[in-house]
Amino acid sequence: MKNLKILIALSVFTSLISCNNKRTPQLQYMPDMYVSIPYDTDGEKGINNKPVNIPPVAGTLPRGGFPAYDIPDTPEGYERARIEVLNPLDSSEVNISKGKELYNIYCISCHGEKGAGNGVLVQREKFLGIPNYKDRDVNAGTIYHVLIHGKNLMGSHSSQLTYTERWQVVQYVQQLRAELLK
Ligand code: HEC
Repeated sequence: MKNLKILIALSVFTSLISCNNKRTPQLQYMPDMYVSIPYDTDGEKGINNKPVNIPPVAGTLPRGGFPAYDIPDTPEGYERARIEVLNPLDSSEVNISKGKELYNIYCISCHGEKGAGNGVLVQREKFLGIPNYKDRDVNAGTIYHVLIHGKNLMGSHSSQLTYTERWQVVQYVQQLRAELLK
């Protein structure tokens, strides 16, 4: 009997809340999912009258952000990178070991463990024309440049690696190259 009362009370309650006028909005638990925040892409009004999506002032850096790489993928750009693009990291243990870890994920299959150009893809003749690092006149700037733009058969690796990770890999490649040159 008691259960029956509860059941009736429940059904009355659900019919009350469910048979509302369908034309008016019901309770909205997460209003952002129903009503999008209108972005004004022209940056005039935006959210709470604060502009959004306007490009940053030239020469400024986002807080915690990194400079955009704007050296073009040209032979002149390559030579510019050699001089202008400098490694911001120190050669701490952490950076070198992180560089090795990343190299062993993204580069080893073509370039080989020691950078001699004999990775597993080369051994299986899936990919040819991989240089030995010691035969290339590269420095930190040009290696970074090639990571961003790729070079001939080598694709760009910029989307796989963050800014810091790219430099960690660059350092590791330089270390491998120095070993090969000994
Ligand atoms: C799919 C194979 C492949 C992978 C993966 C690859 N490379 Fe390469 N890489 C090449 C080839 C091919 C060249 C030769 C490009 C040329 O000079 O024509 C090359 C050249 C280079 C050079 C010499 C560039 C120069 O200016 O002479 C560097 C440095 C280099 N790669 C670094 C890397 C690093 C670091 C990674 C990993 C993040 C990587 N590569 C991943 C294929 C690859």
